[in-house]
Amino acid sequence: MKQEIEKHLAEINAFITSSADELEQFRIRFAGKKGILNDLFAMFKTVAPEERREMGKLLNELKESVQQKLDELKETVGAVGRKPEKKLDLTLPATDEHTGSRHPLAIIRKRIIDIFGRIGYTVAEGPEIEDDWHNFSALNFAPEHPARDMQDTFFIGSDPDILLRTHTSSVQVRVMETTKPPIRMTFPGRVYRNEAISARAHCFFHQVEGLYIDKNVSFADLRQTMMYFAKEMFSSDTRIRLRPSYFPFTEPSAEMDISCNLCGGDGCSFCKYTGWVEILGCGMVNPAVLRNCGIDPEEYSGFAFGIGVERITNLVFNVKDLRIFSENDVRFLKQFGSAL
Ligand code: DAH
Repeated sequence: MKQEIEKHLAEINAFITSSADELEQFRIRFAGKKGILNDLFAMFKTVAPEERREMGKLLNELKESVQQKLDELKETVGAVGRKPEKKLDLTLPATDEHTGSRHPLAIIRKRIIDIFGRIGYTVAEGPEIEDDWHNFSALNFAPEHPARDMQDTFFIGSDPDILLRTHTSSVQVRVMETTKPPIRMTFPGRVYRNEAISARAHCFFHQVEGLYIDKNVSFADLRQTMMYFAKEMFSSDTRIRLRPSYFPFTEPSAEMDISCNLCGGDGCSFCKYTGWVEILGCGMVNPAVLRNCGIDPEEYSGFAFGIGVERITNLVFNVKDLRIFSENDVRFLKQFGSAL
């Protein structure tokens, strides 16, 4: 018996674990109802009187070292001997994971892309850091042309050739340089301008550009496509109006208004009592631009348009201040959780 106790003592002293399961097994093995300690105490009753003193001492030592070991390891391992308070119930419904929601600008960008996708427009993207050629020169902005003043540009460093694109029209050039017509595409993206930030202007905003190049494309095609877009985006009774305008890369150029989607065209404070709100710029691609991109204007013609995503989003969701789009305020953003 003495040898056995000494063997256990050595084992207990050497025992170490960081696993709650192993510690529990250790507890059951030594201090459980049918454990080693109880066995030994039962055996102790049969020990000869002259050995009792020594054996009793050893046995108490063993019992203490078990308790000491348990106390010591409990601290590192956590509760021992306690059952987990809750059992895992796999029949319960899953807890709600908050997955966030689409940003309102992303919702509208997607709607725009999808509307054109339904009439065959595919999607391409271009870089936000552009060179002068793609952002200006190829689009028929002459070096000293006052049209360049229309855009307050962020140049990168001191190099006047590298800049943050001021519009997604730059992607028109990149696509036409590398793609043989017919071309029917939209180009979504972020653009930058050196503007004082206010409720109506920001130093960055979003556009979806559109480009259609084929044989015999006419202004009537442009008008019909824009009407289709307005009716799909807003409502089937939306009307459009094209006002003559100027862009160096289109000729003729127009700005497009829709009948005010708040008052239906009767006039209200939102449309400044005109019944119309402006939503995009468009026009027939200037033959000079086609030539710059290696497309023969005698063979092909086309139209282009540039839609301001913030503008459409404001109209659809009735948002008055576009700064809120980039403030990351979840109280605003989570209101769009169910919109698609
Ligand atoms: N790039 C113009 C702007 O940012 C918008 C625009 C106007 C794009 C007419 C076009 C267009 O493609 O044809 O103000």
